Amino acid sequence: MKIISHVVALSNNNVIGVDNNLPWSLKTDLLHFKEYTTNKIIIMGRKTYESIGKPLPNRINYVVSTTIGEIEGALVFKNTEDAIKSAMHYCDKENKNEIVIIGGGFLFKDTLSITNKLILTRVDCDIAGDVFYPEIDFSEWKELSSEGYTKDSNNDYDFIVSAYERVK
Ligand SMILES: NC(=O)c1ccc[n+]([C@@H]2O[C@H](COP(=O)([O-])OP(=O)(O)OC[C@H]3O[C@@H](n4cnc5c(N)ncnc54)[C@H](OP(=O)(O)O)[C@@H]3O)[C@@H](O)[C@H]2O)c1
Repeated sequence: MKIISHVVALSNNNVIGVDNNLPWSLKTDLLHFKEYTTNKIIIMGRKTYESIGKPLPNRINYVVSTTIGEIEGALVFKNTEDAIKSAMHYCDKENKNEIVIIGGGFLFKDTLSITNKLILTRVDCDIAGDVFYPEIDFSEWKELSSEGYTKDSNNDYDFIVSAYERVK
């Protein structure tokens, strides 16, 4: 079975974005994001792509958009289903086993029901924002690992990175 994962950083009140940006600076978490996603297929919504500003290197970049035609260095799909189908074919062809959804709110909501792994960075703050991660029913998930990090000069808040697999 292929892994379809969400990699997301969320506040205590489920905020993931504000003004098409991240609401915090967490350098250590960005390094973790880079490490986790490198050499994998990543799928993102158009706004997340625009917020990053370019395809991410050493990853296969898929962007879902009805308004962008083409992006150099990325594949664009008109809907999430087509992106997932294509990613599945790519995995079969290239012997890969994980597709990573990297946001934002639209894409996470669209794909939560088919996701079987979560990599959550829980950022220890209540913060104002305009994009939220959906509520998760944790009775459907088993925690695989969890590691805490303390606020420091590189990281605005304490945070915990946890991996879950779907059990229901
Ligand atoms: N904290 C985190 O881990 C994290 C991760 C990623 C992003 N973010 C934040 O999240 C925010 C962006 O999220 P967002 O929810 O506003 O936007 P988004 O999900 O990144 O992108 C939304 C756009 O994607 C396209 N799209 C999404 N679902 C689609 C579908 N089913 N069919 C066709 N097109 C679809 C549409 O583009 P068109 O309008 O072109 O059709 C839609 O306007 C930013 O603030 C970003 O910084 C946070």
